[in-house]
This record gives sequence, C-alpha cells and structure tokens, in this order.
Amino acid sequence: MAKTENKHYLSGKEIRAIAKANAKEMKRLEAYKYRKAEESEFLTEMRDPNNILEIEDLHTYFYTEQGVVKAVNGVSFDVPKNMTVGIVGESGCGKSVTSMSVMRLLQGPQGQIASGSIRFAAKSEDGVQKNYDIAKMPIREVFRIRGKEIAMIFQEPMTSLNPIFTIGEQLDEVTFIHKPKATKQEAKDKSIEMLNLVGIAMPERVYNAYPHELSGGMRQRVMIAMALASDPRLIIADEPTTALDVTIQAQILDLLRDLKTKIDGSIMLITHDLGIIAEMADYVVVMYAGRVIEKGTVQEIFHDPRHPYTMGLQKSKPTLDSDSDTLFNIPGNVPNPINMPDHCYFKERCSQCVKSCSGEYPGMIQVSPTHFVACHMYDEEAQNV
Ligand SMILES: Nc1ncnc2c1ncn2[C@@H]1O[C@H](COP(=O)(O)OP(=O)(O)OP(=O)(O)O)[C@@H](O)[C@H]1O
Ligand code: SF4
Ligand SMILES: [Mg+2]
Repeated sequence: MAKTENKHYLSGKEIRAIAKANAKEMKRLEAYKYRKAEESEFLTEMRDPNNILEIEDLHTYFYTEQGVVKAVNGVSFDVPKNMTVGIVGESGCGKSVTSMSVMRLLQGPQGQIASGSIRFAAKSEDGVQKNYDIAKMPIREVFRIRGKEIAMIFQEPMTSLNPIFTIGEQLDEVTFIHKPKATKQEAKDKSIEMLNLVGIAMPERVYNAYPHELSGGMRQRVMIAMALASDPRLIIADEPTTALDVTIQAQILDLLRDLKTKIDGSIMLITHDLGIIAEMADYVVVMYAGRVIEKGTVQEIFHDPRHPYTMGLQKSKPTLDSDSDTLFNIPGNVPNPINMPDHCYFKERCSQCVKSCSGEYPGMIQVSPTHFVACHMYDEEAQNV
C-alpha cells in the first residue's frame, strides 16, 4: 500500500482502501465461522498422541481502521498431557490473544483466526477418541469443548463474576449448562464440592454470598471452582494471580498445582512473571511481538537461554545479591504491530546482531530435542547439526 509523506497519518484514500479490504476479509471469515459443517470437516489427528493441545502456525488478526494488527503471527507450540506450559512475554506480545483463539472468544468481526490449526484431544466418548481442530470448528460447535473440556481462569475475578447473582447461582449455572437435566440439588452438591476442592472453609456461606462480600483471593478461588465444575482436561490461566497480593498469589499457585494432579489435566499458564513460570511450568514458550521466539523445558529456558530477548528477560529479574541499584531493562520498543518489518522483530533492540539479521525473519532452529530458538546467531549451529 502506498505511503503518504508522513507515515504517522493515513490519507483519506488509504483509509478507504483499508476499510474496503478489511470489510471483504471480515465478511469471508465471519461466514466461515458461522457456516454449517459436518463433524468430519473439523476432526483431525494429533501429531503426537502425548499432547492435549497442538497449536500450529496460528495467525490471529484484528482488522482495524489503521490496518491489520497481526496480534498472533505464526505461533506454534504444544501442551503435553499432564504438563504445565508457561507462556511468557512482555505486554502486548499476543499471550491473551493466543488463549482467546483457543477458546474461540475473539471479539468479531474485527478479531479473527486468519489461518492455522489448534488441535485438541477431546475426552473419548464410548471408547472413541476424537481430536478437533478448534480453528476450523463452526462457532456453534465450539460448545462441545469450551468451558467443558477447556476452562479458562481470567486475571480479574471481580469483572468475571456477575455482581447481581450469588456465587451459588453462578456456580450452579455451569452445571446446568453442561448437564441440562441436573436437578437443583445435584447442581448445588457439585458447587459445594468444587468450593471444598478449592479450599474454601465455609462453602455454604460462600455459596450464598454475593461477589462483593468476598476478598480478592476468595473470588479467584471461586473462579477456579467455576472452571473446575465441568471437569476440564485443560485449564488456561491468564495472569491468574496478577491482581492478588503476594501471599494470596502463593496460595492460588499451590492450589492450581494441586488441582492439576487432581483433575489429571494440563495447564496453559500465561504470565509476565518469570518467578511464577520457574515455580510452576514444565515447558516455557517465550513470545515476542506475536511470534514464538524461543521454547523449551523450564531448565533450558532458565539455565541455557539462547535468544537475546530471553537473556534480557532473565537479566531484568530483580535479585537480592545484585551490586547494582538499578534494574536492567531491554532498551527500545516493540515495533508497530501494523507495520512489522520483514527482518527479525527484535533487531532494533538487539546488541548481538549478526550480518544475516537484516535479511529474512529467522526460522526456528532446534538446539536440543526440546529446545528451539528463532535467531540468526544459531544459523551455523543448525547447519552443523
Ligand atoms: N480488540 C483488539 N483490537 C485491536 N488490537 C487488539 C485487540 N485486542 C488485542 N489487540 C492487540 O493484539 C496484541 C496482543 O494483545 P494481547 O492482549 O494478546 O497481549 P498480551 O501478551 O496478553 O499482553 P498483556 O501482558 O498486557 O496482557 C496487542 O498489540 C494488542 O494491541
Ligand atoms: S536474529 Fe539477529 S537481531 Fe534477531 S535476536 Fe537474533 S541476533 Fe538479534
Ligand atoms: Mg494479556
């Protein structure tokens, strides 16, 4: 698209061209989302039967008046069964948009999965294992798994709970949605059981309380109880402790760890706190500007980080034994998400550039069976493997 002299402003002609292109693309993607489709269209095979979730080359875009925001731009990673995968990266790198894509909760028509696969190994029914490609599911079919097999815990429990209904009414509703034939007493029993499971001492009292009567930690426990009411196999926790103070944070993390064992499931844990990742995760995915730039086991990412951004993240953690009285920060900013460069997105902030960094965006290079990095510094290493 032609640029005007001042790149901060778009001409009327450019705005009209963007609006026309966006309208066409949004219409196409909305029609795909609301189409009727046979189950065979979205049934798939897992690449590895040990995974519960496989995200492959996912592109999630927002069609805005300024242009297309490529919030998730070719993201691939797996969540193995019974494991916790931590997703880390600075604000705006696409962590929440990735999770909202898995839940198919993107706000349309602007927010759309443009391409890619989200393969999920659902519970087997009558001994038949079904794997769904969530990205290809018509939206009316997503109820098969959303909130049922995959549950989500959000950052701010107060805004996620409805202030005009009691905790009990909101918890019972989850059971009624998933088991419409359940009686009022069955729903209540399940709700009390869940409140007990998340460590609430007086479940009957909390069951009858309104959200504003509870502390932040209690509300987050209720949100977790709500997520568990449908016996999910995968919990997506998006910054579950960011709104809580440190002691409550530790309790909630302990609870999540316990529950993972109890439900025999997996957790996709989104946070910008490396301490939480180190404590909770088995695998780590590092995102930067809508892409995965490094992924590996928690030991690999913490003890052998390869990408200059991951190394910078490690250095920017506060430590008690540091001589310096200022924290390390990574200089510069993330590029404009509407006009991403063709080369490595980290180049303008990187102190370790090599010649090829001005060329194409780096591909994923395997440095161990479980460790991958997208950085030209390791190009030669890849050739020697
Ligand atoms: N509704 C929207 N319209 C336009 N752009 C959006 C919208 N929602 C998100 N984005 C853009 O998508 C990108 C990724 O956002 P996302 O919320 O996933 O970031 P994040 O990694 O979760 O950040 P944080 O740590 O602050 O929660 C950002 O550049 C953001 O501006
Ligand atoms: S590819 Fe180049 S610019 Fe990008 S992180 Fe690696 S060394 Fe730095
Ligand atoms: Mg977020």
